[in-house]
Amino acid sequence: MRIIFVPEAKIEYLRNAWYAAAWSDEVGRTPLSRTFLDQPVVMFREEDGAPVALADRCPHRFAPLSKGKLVENAIECPYHGLRFGSDGSCVHNYHGPVPKAATVQAFPLMERHGVAWIWMGDAAQASEDKLPDFGSFDTDPRFAVVRGYLPVSGNYQLPVDNLLDLTHAQFLHPALGNPDSSDNSTFSMKSEGSTVWAKYFFKGESVTPFTRMIWESKSETCDRWAHMRWDAPSNLYLEVGVTECGASSDEALMIPSYHFLTPETAKTSHYFWLNARNVRIDDKTLDEIFWKGVDSAFRHEDEPMIALVQERMGDADFDDLRPIFLTTDRAAGRARQILTQFINAERVGTPPTSDRQREVASGNGAGLTEKANV
Ligand code: FES
Ligand SMILES: [Fe+2]
Repeated sequence: MRIIFVPEAKIEYLRNAWYAAAWSDEVGRTPLSRTFLDQPVVMFREEDGAPVALADRCPHRFAPLSKGKLVENAIECPYHGLRFGSDGSCVHNYHGPVPKAATVQAFPLMERHGVAWIWMGDAAQASEDKLPDFGSFDTDPRFAVVRGYLPVSGNYQLPVDNLLDLTHAQFLHPALGNPDSSDNSTFSMKSEGSTVWAKYFFKGESVTPFTRMIWESKSETCDRWAHMRWDAPSNLYLEVGVTECGASSDEALMIPSYHFLTPETAKTSHYFWLNARNVRIDDKTLDEIFWKGVDSAFRHEDEPMIALVQERMGDADFDDLRPIFLTTDRAAGRARQILTQFINAERVGTPPTSDRQREVASGNGAGLTEKANV
C-alpha cells in the first residue's frame, strides 16, 4: 500500500511571501523589467538609492513603464509622458492636471545580503522580520563567492524538486556526481515548521571532477555531505562539505550555496544562485573556473531537463499526473505539501503568522487530506 497526499486545491502562488527579485546591483538608475507571479514589474532606485518596484504597465494606455526613463525619483512613461513616483501615484502630466486615478501598484522591495526581495501580496503584511536570511557569504572573509542568474523554462517547483532530490546528479551531472554514488550514499529528510532538510552523505566516494577542481588534497577518495534546506515558498540553501575519509568536519572543504527560485509565469521561473568556497579564496582564475563549472551544470544539464519535464507535463497539474513517489522524494514531497497548505491557508484568508505556519506545517492545519493508494 502506498500513502499519497492529495492537496485540496491546485497549487497556485503564495503571494504573501518574499521572493528574490534581483541581485542588488542589478537594480539601479536604469529601469529593470521582470515578471513575477505573472505580473510585469519594473524596478529602479531613487536618487538616494532606495529600491522601488512598480507594476510595469501604465494605467493610461498600458505602455511598459520600463521602456521609459527616470526623472529624479519618478519613472516617465515612454508613450505620453505621465510620471509615477515610488508609491505608484502619478506625479506629473505634461498635458494637464495630474489625474488622481492614475496609479500603478507599488510592491515592497527590500534588500538583504545583496539580494533584492519583492513582496507580491498584501503590502501591509510585508515586514523586514520576514525577510529570508541565508547568511552573508558575500561579505564573509573566509569565503570566495561566485553567483549567477538563469531563466528556467519550467514552473518554479520543478527546479525546487530538482534541488531537493540530488540523486539526479549521478545521471545528469558527470562532474558533480559519481556513476556509483548510490552505492555509497545515505539519505534522510527532516521537516520543521516551514523548513525541510534533505540530507545526503557520500561515504568513501571517488573524488568527483568538481571536487577535484577546488580541493587541495591529492586523495582519490573522500567523505562528502550535501545538506539541502528548503524554506517556503522556494528558497534553498545547500551546505556541501568534503573531508578526507573519516576526518573531522572541522577540516572540511566547504562549498555552501544559495538557490532562490521565483515564479515568473506558470511555466517559467527565475533562478538566482550563489556558490561559495573556503579554499584559494584569492584565486581569481579559480573564481572563473568555479563560476563556469556551476553555471554550466545548471544551464546545460539541469535547466534543459527541467524544460523537457515541463514540456512533457504540458498544462497538467503535477498531482493530477500521479507521480511515482520514491523514498528520495520525501523532502520534495514534504516541501510541496507544506507549500500547498500555505497557499490554501492564504486563499481562505488565514493570517500567515509564523505561529499559524508552524501549526499548518506540523500537520495540524486545514488543507490536506491523506489517501491510501492501494
Ligand atoms: S500610456 Fe503611459 S502616458 Fe499614455
Ligand atoms: Fe542538478
